[in-house]
Amino acid sequence: MNLLRGVIFTVILVSTLAAEIVNIPLSTTSGHEERFKGLVRHRRSSKSEPVPALLKLGIFKDAQVYGPITIGTPGQVFNVVFDTGSSDLWVPSVRCRHWRNGASQNHNTYDRKSSRTYKSGGEYFNVTYQAGDVFGYLGKDIVTVAGIRIENQTFGEAIYEADIFATTLPDGILGMGVSTLASSRQPTVFENMVNKGMLPAPVFSFYLSRGESAAVGSVLTLGGTIPELYTGNFTFVNMTLPRYWEIRMDGVELAGGRGTFCKGGCDAIVDSGTALIVGPMRETNKLNKELGGSRVLDIPGLYIFSCFRVPSLPDVDFILNGNRLTLTSAEYTIQIEDICMSAFRGMLYRGEMYSTWILGSTFMKTYYTVFDRKNFRVGFAKARH
Ligand SMILES: *[C@@H]1O[C@H](CO)[C@@H](O)[C@H](O)[C@H]1NC(C)=O
Ligand SMILES: *[C@@H]1O[C@H](CO)[C@@H](O)[C@H](O)[C@H]1NC(C)=O
Ligand SMILES: *[C@@H]1O[C@H](CO)[C@@H](O)[C@H](O)[C@H]1NC(C)=O
Ligand SMILES: *[C@@H]1O[C@H](CO)[C@@H](O)[C@H](O)[C@H]1NC(C)=O
Repeated sequence: MNLLRGVIFTVILVSTLAAEIVNIPLSTTSGHEERFKGLVRHRRSSKSEPVPALLKLGIFKDAQVYGPITIGTPGQVFNVVFDTGSSDLWVPSVRCRHWRNGASQNHNTYDRKSSRTYKSGGEYFNVTYQAGDVFGYLGKDIVTVAGIRIENQTFGEAIYEADIFATTLPDGILGMGVSTLASSRQPTVFENMVNKGMLPAPVFSFYLSRGESAAVGSVLTLGGTIPELYTGNFTFVNMTLPRYWEIRMDGVELAGGRGTFCKGGCDAIVDSGTALIVGPMRETNKLNKELGGSRVLDIPGLYIFSCFRVPSLPDVDFILNGNRLTLTSAEYTIQIEDICMSAFRGMLYRGEMYSTWILGSTFMKTYYTVFDRKNFRVGFAKARH
């Protein structure tokens, strides 16, 4: 039971990486294009056409989608979470030890003295995730992801990490949100790939496998999509603001007219760094009760089911741009030993985010997701499993 608690704790609390909302003024007057002006840059033409790059991903502790990158010359290897819910790249610094913080001990650490290509970023970075804070120095170095090499990439050398990251993250985080959200305000790794013309198209996509035994593992594709990994057409939804991959959702409905949530529409953040499907506590509590879930005492907003009941639970539809994207009960529950946990988790938000939902990796396992920076939209197609 203790082990189970530990796992649930990891999956739930810690995997919510969405950086806490910063006060970026909401633009209410400008149109879609106007809002994104200046964020679209044109590729330099190159003689040899670039092709999409593939990176095989692992899933850390059932929650975090991660893969390898290198920083520096010679390359120092790190495993980082590819997180669409934040926009900073950071790894633990070798200097982290001075803080007597456990995080650097079981992680790879970056040593600027061992890199010929390190340059100082001249500033500090400080990111507040739902799970805790990280801060340290900004540096610039060569970063390689899926064989694509970016020079002068700004990244963070963390000298402090909240204790929770010591056990719940691989080494660090690679943010794939928009750089307006980055602590450094410098282009993200993906933005640099786009700006330097290294990708055939300014898009990336995630295929997330189900379970360890899945025939095809999880894959991040930089610069394209892989048609073999999904079926049917994409449902595209425009981004509402250039920060998170944030879209408008028209509603969440329980099959058989047993409940409507996000009534009249709400914002939804598509976040590979969050394991579950998070919504406002008052709504997810109602949804979970309607499904017959039992509350997990001491973990607010979390519900479980008896696994034998799961097959009889109704579908839940997410209405996006007029299309119904359905999750079956098998897709919105997570089995941990002999307990089935509801993927719908409640959260208490502050301020403007009070009605926001987060579509985490549970949703992305069912729907292959493409993040399109040319058109500032997110597309979903049924993943082929
Ligand atoms: C980082 O930000 C957090 C929250 O804003 C703050 O509490 C902390 O003192 C900051 N740390 C540094 C080193 O600036
Ligand atoms: C990286 O920065 C150095 C100067 O700090 C500059 O000489 C070099 O051209 C830059 N490389 C790229 C690819 O921008
Ligand atoms: C996908 O879109 C094309 C063109 O709009 C259409 O002809 C086709 O029927 C669609 N396929 C599915 C599975 O909806
Ligand atoms: C999405 O944005 C594009 C412009 O980038 C616009 O042409 C289109 O109508 C928008 N779609 C919706 C459903 O608002």
